[in-house]
Amino acid sequence: MHPESDMYVEGETRWSGEPNGALIDLVGQLGLANNPGTAVDFGCGEGADAVWLAQQGIAVTGVDPSPIALAQAKSAADAAGVEVSLVEGYAPEALTGTWDLVVGMYAPVHSDPVKLGALLGAVAPGGHLLFVHHEMPEDFFEGVDWRGDFLFPRELAKRLPESEWEILVDEVRARRVIPGASAHHVSDELLVARKKS
Ligand SMILES: C[S@@+](CC[C@H](N)C(=O)[O-])C[C@H]1O[C@@H](n2cnc3c(N)ncnc32)[C@H](O)[C@@H]1O
Repeated sequence: MHPESDMYVEGETRWSGEPNGALIDLVGQLGLANNPGTAVDFGCGEGADAVWLAQQGIAVTGVDPSPIALAQAKSAADAAGVEVSLVEGYAPEALTGTWDLVVGMYAPVHSDPVKLGALLGAVAPGGHLLFVHHEMPEDFFEGVDWRGDFLFPRELAKRLPESEWEILVDEVRARRVIPGASAHHVSDELLVARKKS
């Protein structure tokens, strides 16, 4: 499936509804929980991570092109009694501000320098970029023509100039697997980088 194709079906839940274990660990590691600030979760999907971030006292915006997913995210936020600002659109075009924390959980990051520059520009000076994606075996990409159009976390780490970014986490970790459409993936690539002020 192309990373930007619509993966949701009206009336069906695709993901687990649980916040991601790696996100929880990384936010804890960074000391961001209960630290009032702003975050955007691009590719927020059904909103479990955005809701969890909001529960940590962070003002969260969720961005996703799928109206079906955003409707689920709205229901999840309402059920949790938290406010999440939801924007229908594609990153980086829909990221029209700056945030203390820019989160991408299994979301597409474009390798195109202009699009990548726009995504990185959404991180406020001194803020953090947190990007997690599955560690994919190379044979997964056999026959796909878009492999080079997108970056995975380890590739993105190599594109961040040392003069502008401090890399805090650049590693592969075993996933805490929760039932859902991605339960077959066993390890994730994790990147956390701080934009120098
Ligand atoms: C694999 S899902 C991950 C969803 C969610 N982050 C999670 O972990 O459950 C990828 C999400 O990215 C969204 N997406 C696709 N292209 C996008 C883009 N250019 N900008 C933002 N989101 C995008 C999809 O609609 C989908 O919700």
